[in-house]
Amino acid sequence: MLESVKNLLKEVDSFTPKSKEELESFRLAYLGKKGKLNGLFSAFKDVPNEQKKEFGQAINTLKQNAQAKVDQYKDTFNKEEKDNDIDLTKPVTLDNLGSRHPISLVKNQIVDIFNRIGFTVSEGPEIEDDWHNFSALNLPEEHPARDMQDTFFIQTNPDVLLRTHTSSVQVRYMENNQPPIRTLSPGRVYRNEAISSRAHCIFHQVEGLYIDENVSFADLKQALLYFAKEMFGEKTKIRLRPSYFPFTEPSAEVDIYWGLKNESDYRITKGTGWLEILGCGMVDPNVLENCGIDSKKYSGYAFGMGIERIAMLKYGVTDLRLFFENDVRFLKQFSSL
Ligand code: DAH
Repeated sequence: MLESVKNLLKEVDSFTPKSKEELESFRLAYLGKKGKLNGLFSAFKDVPNEQKKEFGQAINTLKQNAQAKVDQYKDTFNKEEKDNDIDLTKPVTLDNLGSRHPISLVKNQIVDIFNRIGFTVSEGPEIEDDWHNFSALNLPEEHPARDMQDTFFIQTNPDVLLRTHTSSVQVRYMENNQPPIRTLSPGRVYRNEAISSRAHCIFHQVEGLYIDENVSFADLKQALLYFAKEMFGEKTKIRLRPSYFPFTEPSAEVDIYWGLKNESDYRITKGTGWLEILGCGMVDPNVLENCGIDSKKYSGYAFGMGIERIAMLKYGVTDLRLFFENDVRFLKQFSSL
């Protein structure tokens, strides 16, 4: 009897299954309900007392080894099956794909719209000097219009500051390039303002600049109408209101017609139906001269818009702070592309 257990042990130890099926019949033959081990366990009671110990140990070893063999090969076959299952041509499942920030989405869209009419992107530093942020833009020291934009200065040096608008990039671009100029400068700007649902100390702007011979206000108007339609839909209406910026003459603010369909429209348009989206104008000849461009030969227009503003309109966001808090519940609502 003991002899036959020892033979079975040899059989188990030398067994190497070639397939999952073979392993399963091995399992049934040894460890199944009607398998050899159960048979041996029931035969145990008839084993003479003095052999019980040795016999018991032998069948326990047999059981353990059989189980170990099953476990060992089960993993191997399962893994093989999985590996064979990998289909490299299958589309990937995009379960945990991140999303793009709404400010990037809108920025990209603005850039794309102006790209189509020949504008290319240029960038400038966020830490600026007085000349590029103010003086060159017709805002000399002590000019009251400097108060329109509360400035963060770096340490105590009044010449080094965080740019308050992307108009500084216009200056840098004109200093380094001669007309024809068609450039778009997106970027982050800083102002010392109290944070609320409508204002933040950091926000984003896109600046546009177009300089060539014989550029007129009509060109500006057409470019902005094209932009508004591309951004907000074919039926969008715009109006230009006279305004003041030191770096443009004449200057205007552009409103789009938002309508008065519901209560929130009344609130955001202050009951007028119109909503301001950007500032613009014909570049002041002084600014051209400051940047080394012949103002007798060339003229041009410039505009600047707040990206948050456009994003709020486009996505119906009523609190600007959401753009900066990076709450994933907010962010994941936007497209990833
Ligand atoms: N820089 C202005 C601002 O921050 C916006 C602006 C207005 C830019 C008119 C321009 C412009 O280029 O022509 O409010």
